[in-house]
Amino acid sequence: MSRKLLSVGLLAVCLQGQAQLDKEVKMNQYITILMQKMTLEEKIGQLNLPSVGFDVTGPILSQGVEEKIKKGLVGGVFNTYTPAAVRKLQELAVNETRLKIPLLFGYDVIHGHRTIFPIPLGLSATWDPALVQRTARAAGDEAAADGLNWVYSPMVDIARDPRWGRVSEGAGEDPYLGSQLATAYVKGYQGNDFILDNTVLACVKHFALYGAGEAGRDYNTVDMSRLRMYNEYLPPYKAAIDAGVATVMTSFNEIDGVPATANKWLLQDLLRKQWKFNGLIVTDYTGIPEMSAHGMGDAKKVGELALNAGNEMDMVGEVFLKYGAELVKSGKVDQAVIDAACRNVLEAKYKLGLFDDPYRYVNEARNKTAIMNEAKLALSKEAAIKSMVLLKNANNTLPLQAGKKIAFIGPLVQDQRNLIGNWSGAGDWKKAVSIWSALEQKYGAGKFLYAKGANLIDDPALRKRLNDHDGQITLDEKSPEQLITDAVQTAQQADVVVAVLGEAFGMTGEAASRSMIGLPDNQLELLKALKKTGKPIVLVLMNGRPLTLQWENDNVEAILETWFGGTQAGTAIAEVLFGEANPSGKLSMTFPRNVGQVPIYYNHKNTGRPFDENQKYTSKYLDIPNSPLYPFGHGLSYTTFSYGEIKLSKPTITNADKLQVTVRVENTGNFDGVETVQLYIRDLVGSITRPVKELKRFEKVSLKKGEGKDVTFTLSVDDLKFYNTDLKFVAEPGDFKVFVGTSSEQVKEVAFSLK
Ligand code: BGC
Repeated sequence: MSRKLLSVGLLAVCLQGQAQLDKEVKMNQYITILMQKMTLEEKIGQLNLPSVGFDVTGPILSQGVEEKIKKGLVGGVFNTYTPAAVRKLQELAVNETRLKIPLLFGYDVIHGHRTIFPIPLGLSATWDPALVQRTARAAGDEAAADGLNWVYSPMVDIARDPRWGRVSEGAGEDPYLGSQLATAYVKGYQGNDFILDNTVLACVKHFALYGAGEAGRDYNTVDMSRLRMYNEYLPPYKAAIDAGVATVMTSFNEIDGVPATANKWLLQDLLRKQWKFNGLIVTDYTGIPEMSAHGMGDAKKVGELALNAGNEMDMVGEVFLKYGAELVKSGKVDQAVIDAACRNVLEAKYKLGLFDDPYRYVNEARNKTAIMNEAKLALSKEAAIKSMVLLKNANNTLPLQAGKKIAFIGPLVQDQRNLIGNWSGAGDWKKAVSIWSALEQKYGAGKFLYAKGANLIDDPALRKRLNDHDGQITLDEKSPEQLITDAVQTAQQADVVVAVLGEAFGMTGEAASRSMIGLPDNQLELLKALKKTGKPIVLVLMNGRPLTLQWENDNVEAILETWFGGTQAGTAIAEVLFGEANPSGKLSMTFPRNVGQVPIYYNHKNTGRPFDENQKYTSKYLDIPNSPLYPFGHGLSYTTFSYGEIKLSKPTITNADKLQVTVRVENTGNFDGVETVQLYIRDLVGSITRPVKELKRFEKVSLKKGEGKDVTFTLSVDDLKFYNTDLKFVAEPGDFKVFVGTSSEQVKEVAFSLK
C-alpha cells in the first residue's frame, strides 16, 4: 500500500472512531438528562421484563402487564410479536406513561422466526459460519419485520452430554467451532448497524456453563474447575462478547456454589472487568425467584443478591419490581446499582433508535414482504441440505435410483409438525414441507409406496407428558401390530426401504432430558421387522440430539441424519436421497455407542492409563470400547476424498513465526462433493495436562469429481495457547502434533515444535 493510501486509510479510521465517540457522548447526554427526570420506581420499572401472551416455557406468570406498562413499570416485554400487537403495547408505553420511554420487544428466535431453519445443532453440523450468519440475518430481518427488536439467541453452551435436551439449541461440544458459530450468529442478528430497522439485539446465553449440568438433567448443578471453564466452556461466550453482542442472559445453574444469577465473580469480575462487556445483562426466566429454591434466601434476599451481582433486567420474576425500591431505601442495594442497570436498558433502546421512532419495527408493509419470502425459503432449504450428516452408506445404497421401487415407511414420512423442531414458536408447521409432499411434488403422486408403520410414541406415559406441553402426538386408528404388519407387506413389494424415524420434537429442547437416548422402542421394533424382509434399508433420522444407534448401525445399509430440518426439510431430504444434492454435514457432537459412555467428547485428556484393550488396568469399560459410534467431525459423502501427507512450512516455529500446514485433498469418487477439512493439534507436554486433540481450523472445499486441491492452514503461536494454573493464556515451548483429516478420528499427523 502506498504511503498516501495508508494515511487516507488511517484518517478514515480516525474519523470513524471520532464519529463513534461523538455518538456515545450524545447518547450519554440524552440518557443522563432522561434519568434526571426519573423516579426510583420508574428506574426500577425499566428493569422489569414480563412475558405477555403466547408462552412456551411455562405458565404466563406476569399479571396485569398492560396496567404496569401504563404506570411506567415495564422496560420491555417478550413473547409478543406482529406489528399490530407490538404497536398496541408500544402505544401504551409512549402515549400513556409520564416519560414516554419505549419498550423493548424480545422473543426466542432460535433457528429462524417464521421461516424455520434446521435446529441449531443441525446448523452447527454445516461447519459453515458464513451460512449460519446468513440464517441469523434472515431470522433477524424477519423478527424485525414482525415488531421484535431483541432475540434470545445464540445459545452457545458447550454440551458433552446428549441426555440433555437442550443440546438441540447449541453448537455441540467444541469450543473452537462453537466460538466461530457464536460470532456468526451475533453478526447475523445484529448486522453492522443497530439503527437499521432490520437489525436486532442478540442475546448470548446461558451465561455460563449451563450445558454442564450433572447427569444431563436440565437445571441441574454444575461444578467445574476454573481451568476447564477457561479452556473448554467459556470460549464461545467470549467470542460472542468480542463480536459485540448487545446482551447477555444469565443461566439457571450454579457456578462454584453460587447461582449464576447471584454470581458476582461471573458477572462483575469475568464479564465486566476481564471481558469488558458493556451491554445489558438479563436474567433467565424467573431466574431470580428460583434462587430461593437453590437455598439463597427469600424473595427479597435473592433480589438483593441479583441486583448486587449485576443483573439488570429481571425476566418474569418481578422481584426487582416488588423489592427494588425497598432494597435501595434500606441500604442493601446502592442507588448507583439501579442507575447503572437502568442506564444499560436505556442505552439498548437508544442504540436501536427507539427514542427517535418507537415504531421503527412496526411496519405492516415490510411484514408482508420480509416474512417467508422466496429468498428465505431457499435459504432454509440450503441450510437443511448442508446440515444433513451421512452417518453410514454401505454398498452405495444412497443416492436412491428413481427407477427402483421404493417404500417410504415411518411415522415421520408425512409428518409436518416435527420438521420445525422445538423453539419454533412463531413458525407455522402447516407451512413445512413433508418428505411425502416433496416426493409427490418432485416425482408425481403414486410413484412411491408408503406405510406409517408405527406411531411416533406408543408409551402412554411419555406421550401424555409430551402432549401436556403441546406435543401434538396422535395415535393411529390401527393397532401397533397392524401398523407393523402393513409396513412389512409394503416393504416386501419394494426394492429399497426408506425408514423415516426419530424423536418427537418435544423430546428435545428445554426440560426434555432423556435417560435413554435411542429411538423410541416401538419405532425400533418396526425397524427390526423391516430388517427381517431382507430389503436394503435407508434410515432417515429426525432428532435433536446424538442418539445411540448401535443396532441400527449394525443392521441397516445407510443412515442419514437430518435433525429437525425446518420449513423446507422435506424437499431438502428428497434432494439428498435422490442425489440432487450430496451430503456434506459433519457431526458437531459425538454419538456414543451407549448411554453409559456419556459424557463423551473427542477432546478428552489422555489420563495416566490411556485405553489399551489388552491391558486390564487402563481407563476403559469391560463391555464396550471407549471410542464412540460416530466421532466428532464424522460425516460421509456420496463421493470419497483422499488425503495426502501433511506438509509443514517448517518443523520448528518461534513465537513470531507462522506455520503453514498443507494437505492435498482429492475427490476420488464418482460425484462432485464438498469436504470439510479439519485440523487438530495436540500439545504433547504441558504444565497442565492437555487434550488428546483440539480443533484449531477447518475449511470447506468444493471438489468436482476427480479434482484435487492443496488446502493450506496458517497457525500461529496464539493457536497453541491455553490457560495455565495461574489462568494466564500462554503457549509453552515444546513438541506438538498436528492432525489433518476428515473427522476427529480419521486423520494424518506430523510433529512440529515451538521454540
Ligand atoms: C430459557 C431461555 C429462554 C427464556 C425465555 C427460559 O426458560 O432457558 O433460553 O430464552 O426461557 O423464553
